[in-house]
Amino acid sequence: MRKIIAAGNWKMNKTPQEAEALITELLPLVNNDDVDVIFCVPFIDIPVAIEMLKGSNVSVGAQNMHFEDKGAFTGEISAKMLYECGVEYVIIGHSERRQYFAETDETVNRKILQAFANELIPIVCCGETLEQREEGITLDWIKGQITNAFVNVSAEQAKETIIAYEPIWAIGTGKVATKEQAEEVCKFIRETIAGLYGQEVAEEIRILYGGSVSGDSAPELFAMEDIDGGLVGGAALKADFGRIVNYNK
Ligand code: PGA
Repeated sequence: MRKIIAAGNWKMNKTPQEAEALITELLPLVNNDDVDVIFCVPFIDIPVAIEMLKGSNVSVGAQNMHFEDKGAFTGEISAKMLYECGVEYVIIGHSERRQYFAETDETVNRKILQAFANELIPIVCCGETLEQREEGITLDWIKGQITNAFVNVSAEQAKETIIAYEPIWAIGTGKVATKEQAEEVCKFIRETIAGLYGQEVAEEIRILYGGSVSGDSAPELFAMEDIDGGLVGGAALKADFGRIVNYNK
């Protein structure tokens, strides 16, 4: 049985003081032993999040990292820095990073390998644009993104990896994919992983849906066979996240 994940992607929101207030508000709402709960916070909020979430059921994730160990990369953060702070997860290749910060399939792959080298679990994002969906090339596109992301990733690492399917047209638009649309692609991703690593890895790997997930839509999405939870943006900044975590109550 794959355990459901509710991961909040805070994006560029909340100063450390605001993060403290949000965590204080959310912590009593996100208790559910059936679910792995992750707050992916801005770098600057990591220390306060780690401190406040110590001993709780919530893990801390980052939203990005660099693919090199260290060096002359002004403004960047390394995997080792995150690990040493107590971070356990890191989002890699979010569509906003691909769109605004020139993230490519190649940098995504390098970052995944670097995350594992530093004991971080990557949450790897993929997803198509509205034009690609309308052209009917969604599955080909996703297959390319997944295949490129997993180059040189071992089967053991692949099992641990979390994939987030996030159709770009559904992110921050309030336009959530139907459960059938989300399931179709998540199932296809699992088949793609089976093609790369075999059935055992495909059965274990967790695949999330992301894009306007809310307390209202989470129960039907998370009930689908190949959807193992959600990567949540807007609703992760509100009490609604508690309803997402408790989707089965
Ligand atoms: P959204 O964002 O829930 O606000 O659509 C999801 C994401 O981008 O991870």
